[in-house]
Amino acid sequence: MKIPEIFTSNPNEFNQPPIEQASTIPSSWYHDQEVYDFEQNVLFARNWQYVCHQDQLKNVGDVVHATIAGNPILVIKTKDEGIRAFYNVCKHRGGPLAVKKGTTTVLQCQYHGWTYLTDGSLRGVPDWNLVELFDEKNFGLEPIELSFWDGLIFARIESGGPDLQQIVKGISDRISPISMEKLQFYNEVVYDINCNWKVYLDNYLEGYHIPIVHPELANLLDYKNYVTEAYPWYSLQHSPFKGEDNVYQTEEGEAFYYFLFPNMMLNILPGRLQVNLVEPVSTNRCKVYFWYFYDDLSAKESTGIIKDDLEYSEVIQQEDIEICEAVQRGLQSKAYDKGRFSVKRELGVYHFQSLLKKLFQSVL
Ligand code: FES
Ligand SMILES: [Fe+2]
Repeated sequence: MKIPEIFTSNPNEFNQPPIEQASTIPSSWYHDQEVYDFEQNVLFARNWQYVCHQDQLKNVGDVVHATIAGNPILVIKTKDEGIRAFYNVCKHRGGPLAVKKGTTTVLQCQYHGWTYLTDGSLRGVPDWNLVELFDEKNFGLEPIELSFWDGLIFARIESGGPDLQQIVKGISDRISPISMEKLQFYNEVVYDINCNWKVYLDNYLEGYHIPIVHPELANLLDYKNYVTEAYPWYSLQHSPFKGEDNVYQTEEGEAFYYFLFPNMMLNILPGRLQVNLVEPVSTNRCKVYFWYFYDDLSAKESTGIIKDDLEYSEVIQQEDIEICEAVQRGLQSKAYDKGRFSVKRELGVYHFQSLLKKLFQSVL
C-alpha cells in the first residue's frame, strides 16, 4: 500500500494539539488522489461498514447491495434463516449476481448465467463440458465478514479496525428504552454530491453553520443549549427544541444525532430512525444515503409524520449540499490550507479529524 507523499513529507501533521490550539486537517487531504486511495485501503476496507437493517432482509432470498472501499458486495437472507455476505463478483469473468428468477436460494450471474448456492458454492455452469483442469471448489463466491448490533448489519472486507461492539459501546444504554431492532424500513434516498466525503461529515458534525445555512432549523432548535459529546469511536450531538409545533417535536424522550467512525450517522428519535452513510466515490465526489425507519408503518398517524419528515429533511439536505459543494471548491483553491476550530461549536469536527489523524499515523 502506498503511503501518500504529503503524509511522509509532513510527519508533524499527525500530532494533534488540544482543540484550543489545533488546526483543521490540510486542504490537500480533501482532494489528493493518494490520500483518497490510502483512505479506501486503511479506513473503509478495515472498518465495519453499515450495510442495512435486518428488516430489509426479512424473507429468504432478500438481497441488499452495497459498496465497500469500491468493492461491490451483496448480503442475502439464506434458506436456514441466516444472513451471509459475498463480494458481488462472479468467478467466471467478474459479472454481477442476482437471485435467479423463480428461486430464492440460487444466485445467478447476470453475464453468462453461472449459478451459485447461498453458501457461495458454484452450482451450475452452462456449456462447460469441454473445459479441462477445472475444480469448481476453487470457483465459489468470496465470503465477507458480518457483524450485528441492535438490528443493524455491518460488513468488513479486511480485518484491522476495532470490533463493532467496541465502536458502539454505550449507545444502546444511552438511547434506552428506544431499540432500533424492531423498526420497519420505509425507504432509501440517495444524493450524489460534488464534495469529498470528509466535507460532508465535517458539516454534519457541527451546529455552528445552522444559523446561517438553515435559518428555519435555527428557529426550531434551542441553539444556545446545543451539546456535542465525544466518545472513543463516536460523537453525539443533541439539542432541545424550542416551541411545540415542529416536525421533530417528540412527545417523550429526546433526539440523538450520532456519528459513528468512519462514515455513518444514526439520527434517533422516539419511533423513528434515519441512518445516513457517506460513501466516497472519488476525491471530490461522494454518495450520501438516507434510510428511513419507523416503529409502525401501518399506523394511520405514521403517514403524516413520514411525509413531514421526508419533506423537511429534503430542504435541510439541499442546503447542506449547496454549502458542501462550495466548500469543496474553496478547499481546492490556492487560497486555503488549514483553518481553526470554534471550541464551543466544533468539537465534533475536531474529534473526527483527530481520529483520522490517529488512525493514519498508526499505519504509517
Ligand atoms: S461472468 Fe459470470 S457467468 Fe460469466
Ligand atoms: Fe446542515
